[in-house]
Amino acid sequence: MKKALITGITGQDGSFLAEFLLARDYEVHGIVRRASTFNTDRLDSIYADPHEQGSSLHLHYGDVTDGAALRHVIKKVQPDEIYNLAAQSHVRVSFDQAEYTADVVATGTLRLLEALRDYAGSAGRRIRFYQAGSSEMYGATKPPQNETTPFYPRSPYAVSKVAAHWYAVNYREAYKLFICNGILFNHESERRGETFVTRKITRALGRIKLGLQKKLFLGNLDSRRDWGFAGDYVEAMWLMLQAPEPDDYVVSTGESHSVREFLNLAGEYCGLDWTQYVETDPRYFRPTEVDYLMGDSSKARRMLDWKPKVRFEDLVRLMVEHDIELAQQELTLATAGHKVVVRGMAHG
Ligand code: NAP
Ligand code: GDD
Repeated sequence: MKKALITGITGQDGSFLAEFLLARDYEVHGIVRRASTFNTDRLDSIYADPHEQGSSLHLHYGDVTDGAALRHVIKKVQPDEIYNLAAQSHVRVSFDQAEYTADVVATGTLRLLEALRDYAGSAGRRIRFYQAGSSEMYGATKPPQNETTPFYPRSPYAVSKVAAHWYAVNYREAYKLFICNGILFNHESERRGETFVTRKITRALGRIKLGLQKKLFLGNLDSRRDWGFAGDYVEAMWLMLQAPEPDDYVVSTGESHSVREFLNLAGEYCGLDWTQYVETDPRYFRPTEVDYLMGDSSKARRMLDWKPKVRFEDLVRLMVEHDIELAQQELTLATAGHKVVVRGMAHG
């Protein structure tokens, strides 16, 4: 039985990856931050109480800002594969929390690589390491972007991801470690955080449709993103670590759409004219924007035999359908006298 260790297991991708690996008979270990409330909602479908025998999912407290804790967990778990997904992953927030973002995203990766380097030396076998890189690293460079496109990061988040990318390349070359950088373009799902634009839109339109919300405040509607489905993208992470040699890969659909186009489609599936409800709020503009991302993933398609399965239209539909259902549940609660709080509007 192979063992995988995932940082960021409670996030969107972490939860999909954990499910994917459990289905392939891995023993899955995840690092979870201590919080004052439970932060494992996305793992609910695979979580088993630690007192129950036989579960293949194990959670450990830790944080990528705490190098000693990372070393302890790695020593205890003895993983065959490590997936570094932990991040302060919100681009707009990274302008407000630049130092913290760098500490988690850039130095956090370095801490984990140092822990890997020590552990790999003692393990006597090749540990495989995945680094969650981002299309944000391309920033201002023209599409289509592939593995040879120069980086031009446009936010503290993106600069930190570029640093993490090069740390990973350097550790691969200097210490002959098996390290892959996945350069993933935007990927979404019904588990996407509610302050990212796609989920913010589908969540709000679902609520507006059922009369639970009146307005949706957004920023720049003209930026273009290459949006895929998170479930497809975690497969690419795994495939990278099964390849004979470590390498870096772009993962994308090759299609790009504007935020406005996303709104058009989501509005159509909801049966709403979104222009009646959406207002611009400059707080959601970024000091430097990334205008146009569209990935060329031909290398991953050729070398890993990977391709995305869920198309843009199906992605929008699955998110809309999920969030109408969620709004329906909220309406039921509201009708029974419970307070429904719309949190999404003040942040991100
Ligand atoms: P996400 O939903 O924001 O999840 C981030 C995860 O990192 C959460 O589990 C979070 O824990 C954890 N985390 C944050 N700070 C941490 C710290 N100091 N120590 C340990 N864990 C920490 O992000 P995602 O969409 O799943 O993305 C996964 C990774 O891929 C991230 O590195 C992201 O930057 C990168 N990426 C994402 C996309 C995309 O479109 N989704 C594209 C390219 C790259 P809490 O649950 O406690 O907050
Ligand atoms: N979040 C947000 N909120 N974005 C908005 C809004 C809003 O109200 N209005 C317009 N946008 C625009 C942003 O300005 C950006 O151009 C686009 O929508 C997408 O924003 P996000 O959904 O926040 O994602 P992102 O592209 O900045 O970053 C995501 O994808 C990266 C990969 O390219 C994150 O998941 C990153 O962690 C990831 O690396």
